[in-house]
Amino acid sequence: MRPTIIAGNWKLHCTLVEAEALARGVLPAAARAAGRQVLLCPPFTALDRVARIVVEGAPNLRLGGQNLYWEERGAFTGEISAGLLVDCGCSHVLVGHSERRHVFGELDEESGHKVAAALGSGLTPMLCVGEKIAQRRAGETQEVVERQLAAGLGNWRPGADRGVVIAYEPVWAIGTGETATVAQAQETHTVIRSWLAGRFGGAIADETPILYGGSVKDTNAAELLIAADIDGVLVGGASLDAAVFSRIITAGL
Ligand code: PGA
Repeated sequence: MRPTIIAGNWKLHCTLVEAEALARGVLPAAARAAGRQVLLCPPFTALDRVARIVVEGAPNLRLGGQNLYWEERGAFTGEISAGLLVDCGCSHVLVGHSERRHVFGELDEESGHKVAAALGSGLTPMLCVGEKIAQRRAGETQEVVERQLAAGLGNWRPGADRGVVIAYEPVWAIGTGETATVAQAQETHTVIRSWLAGRFGGAIADETPILYGGSVKDTNAAELLIAADIDGVLVGGASLDAAVFSRIITAGL
């Protein structure tokens, strides 16, 4: 049985005071959604503060980093390692978010190094994949997503390594207010699960959670979560309001 995961990606938002208030604000909803995993991904500066709330709060709460570098230590100014994320209380880390790829120019192969580094330190990587609007219009969605999966999971040894989470986030739906329809999301989630089955076998494909992300709101979360291959949501903007994110956490319950 795959867990349902509701993840909040706070991006470049939240002072320490704001982060603490936001994390405390979702505790009642997380407690009500005891069967779901609720993952908070604050900026690095707030990880330690939010970690304390996660530990004291509901047992289904998890903490994640938004990015990592694959070297463990050294002269890499401005970077953060898997070990430092674990040290702050993280269990998860986003890899290859579309803003990393398209604002900061991260390459497909970098996500492979990052997934390996996360796994090596005991973090669960959440590999984000998704096509741009021009690629969708050109009928290249499957090709783009499969290329990103192949690069990101090239070093994954299921069985020996811990599991991974995939997040399908069409670039045209992120922060635009334009959500993929449930049918569009489900269609690409099926592509992802089939690719996982072909590469790693049906059992691994069956147990790997695939989240949808891109303008998820409290008004559309329930219908997304009902779809057979949508195992959770990765929420940006709507995760910054405790009341709205709380409704997403409990959507459809
Ligand atoms: P959004 O962002 O919900 O604001 O569209 C999603 C994401 O980037 O993970």
